[in-house]
Amino acid sequence: MSEAAQPISGQRALVTGGAGTIGSAVVDQLLAAGAAEVVVLDNFVRGRRENLADATATAGDRLTVVDGDINDRDLVGRLSQGTDLVFHLAAIRITQCAEEPRLALEALVDGTFTVIEAAAAAGVKKVIASSSASVYGLAEQFPTTERHHPYNNDTFYGAAKAFNEGMLRSFKAMYGLDYVALRYFNVYGPRMDAHGKYTEVLIRWMERIAGGEPPLIFGDGAQTMDFVHVHDIARANVLAAKAPVTDTVYNIASAQETSLKELAQALLAAMDSDLPLEHGPERAVNGVTRRLADISAAARDLGWKPEIGLVDGLRGLVRWWVDLGDEAAEAVR
Ligand SMILES: NC(=O)c1ccc[n+]([C@@H]2O[C@H](COP(=O)([O-])OP(=O)(O)OC[C@H]3O[C@@H](n4cnc5c(N)ncnc54)[C@H](O)[C@@H]3O)[C@@H](O)[C@H]2O)c1
Repeated sequence: MSEAAQPISGQRALVTGGAGTIGSAVVDQLLAAGAAEVVVLDNFVRGRRENLADATATAGDRLTVVDGDINDRDLVGRLSQGTDLVFHLAAIRITQCAEEPRLALEALVDGTFTVIEAAAAAGVKKVIASSSASVYGLAEQFPTTERHHPYNNDTFYGAAKAFNEGMLRSFKAMYGLDYVALRYFNVYGPRMDAHGKYTEVLIRWMERIAGGEPPLIFGDGAQTMDFVHVHDIARANVLAAKAPVTDTVYNIASAQETSLKELAQALLAAMDSDLPLEHGPERAVNGVTRRLADISAAARDLGWKPEIGLVDGLRGLVRWWVDLGDEAAEAVR
């Protein structure tokens, strides 16, 4: 078996951004797969301790949570010592990157450099890094494969993610650091940020539907996305560590195209609501009007396929949101 195939059982893993939406799901799955120790490094700008409540309750001293920044070189260097696997998820959101590009440079680019520099120095066996479909911008070919060029992206976030992929390749070439980068498409699921400034549209719609108001779509809602559930993404991270692959990237998506309108309808169904849709004036911000991934490479090399369909996934999301106990969820409780 190739050296790039790493078991999870008995290993020590460092998870940056491990208190976030996807990172906390990765932590849960690593612990369930028998990791000897999981160390979370998160500065809690967006992550929440509650996201790690299940892990904390069950893992005992196999879980360590460090409140710190991925730009703290000494800290990252120390945490990387004796680490077998690094799952690098820490980042800020695409919208915040556009508002604060210098912060984005520090968090996404410098931070990633610090993490992989420390990983190479400490002899980490493999890094699994979070990339994004944003590297494609509005693609020219659908379904979009990993071979699609990155030159249609015009966001700082997408540029940083593309550069991160390049950095990882160069570290593999310079130091032999094994890695896999995963390009997630449109992520949804439990532990999404329900309160923050960059709250996802699904949360806003759930609030409206629970309050008896139709979900509001800006424009005709014809733009499409490729939704993938956070548990499936976490599973892809685990499989990317275990598979005998290195120095490569994979699309992680459902390979199903869903329009914004269809998403709102699916959410209404998941909330057993017969409210109509409401359309508001077009808000020209998102230049990416279509997303549809080719996921055959991940299926072939990682043995990964999404398992959670959109309607089931949305029902689970609604249950999680209701359990959060927000005032807005009162009506559907
Ligand atoms: N959610 C999506 O739709 C999506 C899509 C594609 C790619 N991704 C990528 O997946 C990864 C995880 O995203 P998520 O949705 O879980 O986001 P998230 O915001 O829930 O998690 C990111 C975590 O990183 C932490 N963090 C941010 N800056 C940090 C720093 N300097 N030092 C330490 N910790 C820091 C935050 O506190 C947060 O807990 C990110 O790299 C993101 O870019 C997400």
